[in-house]
Amino acid sequence: MKKTFLLIAMSVLCLSMQAQKGDMNAFVNQLMSKMTLEEKLGQLNLAPASDEIVTGGAVDTEVGQRIANGQLGGVFNLKGVDKIRALQDIAVKKSRMGIPLIVGMDVIHGYETIFPIPLALACSWDMKAIEEMARISAREASADGINWVYSPMVDICVDARWGRIAEGAGEDPFLGSEVAKAYVRGYQGQTANAQKLSSNHVMACVKHYALYGAVEAGRDYNTVDMSRLRMYNQYFPPYKAAAEAGAGSYMSSFNIVDGQHATANRWLLTDVLRDQWKFNGFVVTDYGSIGEMTSWGFGDLKSNSAKALKAGTDMDMCSNGFIETLAASLKDGSVTMADIDQACRRVLEAKWKLGLFDDPYRHLDAKRRAKDIYTDEHRAASRRMAAETFVLLKNQDDLLPLAKDKSIALIGPMVNDRANIAGTWCVAYTPDRYATIKESLERRLPKGKLLYAQGCNLTHDAALQKAAEFGKTIPRVDAAQAKSEALKIAKKADVIVCAMGECADFSGESSSRATLEMPDAQRELLEELVKLGKPVVLLHFSGRPTVLTWEQQHVDAIMNVWFAGSEAGDAIADVLFGDVAPSGRLTVTMPQAIGQVPLYYNHLNTGRPVPEGIDNYRKYQSNYLELRNDPLYPFGYGLTYTTFDYSGVALSSNAMSADGSVEASVMVTNTGKKDGDEIVQLYIHDQAASVARPVKELKGFQRVHLKAGETRKVTFLITREQLEYYNAEGQRVLEPGTFDVMIGSDSRRVSSVKLNVE
Ligand code: NOJ
Repeated sequence: MKKTFLLIAMSVLCLSMQAQKGDMNAFVNQLMSKMTLEEKLGQLNLAPASDEIVTGGAVDTEVGQRIANGQLGGVFNLKGVDKIRALQDIAVKKSRMGIPLIVGMDVIHGYETIFPIPLALACSWDMKAIEEMARISAREASADGINWVYSPMVDICVDARWGRIAEGAGEDPFLGSEVAKAYVRGYQGQTANAQKLSSNHVMACVKHYALYGAVEAGRDYNTVDMSRLRMYNQYFPPYKAAAEAGAGSYMSSFNIVDGQHATANRWLLTDVLRDQWKFNGFVVTDYGSIGEMTSWGFGDLKSNSAKALKAGTDMDMCSNGFIETLAASLKDGSVTMADIDQACRRVLEAKWKLGLFDDPYRHLDAKRRAKDIYTDEHRAASRRMAAETFVLLKNQDDLLPLAKDKSIALIGPMVNDRANIAGTWCVAYTPDRYATIKESLERRLPKGKLLYAQGCNLTHDAALQKAAEFGKTIPRVDAAQAKSEALKIAKKADVIVCAMGECADFSGESSSRATLEMPDAQRELLEELVKLGKPVVLLHFSGRPTVLTWEQQHVDAIMNVWFAGSEAGDAIADVLFGDVAPSGRLTVTMPQAIGQVPLYYNHLNTGRPVPEGIDNYRKYQSNYLELRNDPLYPFGYGLTYTTFDYSGVALSSNAMSADGSVEASVMVTNTGKKDGDEIVQLYIHDQAASVARPVKELKGFQRVHLKAGETRKVTFLITREQLEYYNAEGQRVLEPGTFDVMIGSDSRRVSSVKLNVE
């Protein structure tokens, strides 16, 4: 037994040397020729590693035992080089084949240096910065033992009730695709297929494939029903873009697609993902998805595991379906050895691409922590980026930025909090090191100028608060006393700054909402503060588009700061005092009321449309009795500390041949007194087509920095790429005709010219 073990271990070593020479196929072929069925199934099995793992004792844990028995291909969400090394040791030295583990984690918007939440990152419209964020996340994660991250989340979402809208890029397929590519480039580096990633990079896992953002009623884990036309045109583009950017893995979603569970949907996982989009990495399920199929009504674990494998799923996260049932399914013919081999090969190829066969410990260098994690450089990048994600929604009489000699009453349940400001999904974060908003502001102001009070609870309902906090506790206070303290300091101050809204896990997984207004206790206090008649600034925290209709009417300045990560405090101070201007623009539409949801700018027109900006109800038209169709803040909207003027939208030619191109241009002038960033947006509308097409679709954007008074010509190249779409037969077509080409500062403030395509 010992002898066989040694021989195999030696041959893996020889193979490893060959791996260095670089022939992935030959390497994997040889490795698989030595593996038993059980060992192959082990590679398809993924489990979370709990904190019971301690160096030395790991082999005695359940996870340790499974690794030693060759029953696990990878682990996830375990933090720390020592703990991960302990498990890798078992895999390499104690399992018969010595195959290293792949080590995953939900690194979603940073590792220890936390960046703004993904929805906020998208609002920067800054692809270089997003790529940089992913590169830094990869550097930190790979310095601490992680080689696979469950990001980017590229689910399009038009429903603000869904808490996971926080994790994506928003409602637009074009922007979402650009963002998806930037993440993949940042995580993986510029690596072509069948090449190895550098040890500072990690493998991306694109999720949740597919359509998870379209769950009915915005209720998490709910069902989805959608036409293929809509899938291809509105929801698929970011998944496709990520595949084209070379993403190494995909995670299937929890929902139904066309009546089949996404995890066992062959059309989705094989016909579309692999055959149409040429994806050649591996697919992992989401947490327990194969097990959940029984509850959906698809039968037992054994048949669902077989269906999932046959459909194109390669790795089973947490259901134990593959490991426990596929051998029996092989026997009775429900799966073939070729099905199992194919999945095993894909998992081994991912390990090969990660360089794990060259050196299973390549991400386990304890010395890297000091130089690669939470460095000054990474923190500065996060802080810089945060200002680009803040969306200034209102700034009456240029209240912002604030002068530093004013006294400020800082009020709100999260102003003295370090955990919530980072946002949802921060598995590896270290909040004790993060500054609170109060601390950051205190550092900037002369002594005595900052007055502080918590002022209220997050919500009146303690049980709701506890559920939303999800462990990131905000102190419960006596409501009457807290309110009177807040009013007292507010009366003394020149300006009232309220930091209010959602806490981190009021959005994110399993945090769907049935209301979208500011939580009751905070809103009531805000109303009292407004009554004092002093200038009020609302720093609004949220992981989703919320309803700020009352606030828009009554509060002088509103800035959506989302959840800005580990450097949120300093980034907020930078912007509040004008050292940096806020320059984010919404990538989600903000409604006036929840009844308008789903609300998105790129909708179809209806046969009875009501034009934008109409202020009365119209009988027999498509509108509501009590409310207009307009959003409170449209897609693309955001102010800054200066203003911009657009003029002279023009085309280089009003006619274009199908294979030709034209240039669309506009003159943009900074008409204010400060330098600033503008995001110039290009939209296109197809006037007549063989299927109904959206009223407008984003097809280009540019972030430009203009000095006060400066004018610049901004130009976009239009080719067939921006004019094509998927028709009812699923073909990508360009139909000749007239297109409206629109350029402007948001999805509503645009000027239009006509383009004829022959
Ligand atoms: C469930 C979530 O849906 C997914 O996004 C996450 O990556 C996995 N759990 C692993 O934690």
